[in-house]
Amino acid sequence: MAKESSILQIDENKQEQMQAEQEQIRHKVKRIKHKILILSGKGGVGKSTVAVNLAVSLALSGKNVGLLDIDIHGPSVPKILNLEGKSIQAVGNTLLPVEMLENLKVMSIGFLLRGSEDAVIWRGPMQYQMIKQFLKDVDWGDLDFLLSIHRPAREMSRFRLSSFWKMPTERL
Ligand SMILES: Nc1ncnc2c1ncn2[C@@H]1O[C@H](COP(=O)(O)OP(=O)(O)O)[C@@H](O)[C@H]1O
Ligand SMILES: [Mg+2]
Repeated sequence: MAKESSILQIDENKQEQMQAEQEQIRHKVKRIKHKILILSGKGGVGKSTVAVNLAVSLALSGKNVGLLDIDIHGPSVPKILNLEGKSIQAVGNTLLPVEMLENLKVMSIGFLLRGSEDAVIWRGPMQYQMIKQFLKDVDWGDLDFLLSIHRPAREMSRFRLSSFWKMPTERL
């Protein structure tokens, strides 16, 4: 009986923690006017090129832009933007993106890897944690656009990805 109640307690705690995280994500996502996801299951198809060009063009036209590179197989944004070697600053639980321009903030998994050739083999559940952490903990401020480059794991369903971003599945 005692064991059952402690399991119940753990479940409740976990649920509370998940709700708090969801609330934090909702709060962050509300400050982003437009979210653009650039996805493909394959590498080398031009995701990073399109995303970087779009992000820089929007920033140069005066918009506040965030660029989030969560392509775990080849986070090439730091290289394309000549930001290799930059590191992410953390203040408490908040991660500060690299400021490419005053109105262009960049966050990439590449900043967390030791070398540009490193690859990370993370399956679905770990990708979720990473996306969640970048959404929850990065201080993007108020953005007109957040462009996010993904290479979803095979088992990552469109439904779960869309629920993260509070976007309708049919748009993915
Ligand atoms: N429209 C295009 N035409 C020709 N080559 C391109 C085009 N877009 C991207 N490339 C080249 O293709 C390669 C892969 O592009 P990249 O953006 O890194 O793809 P991904 O991010 O999907 O892996 C790069 O060498 C890039 O310069
Ligand atoms: Mg890429």
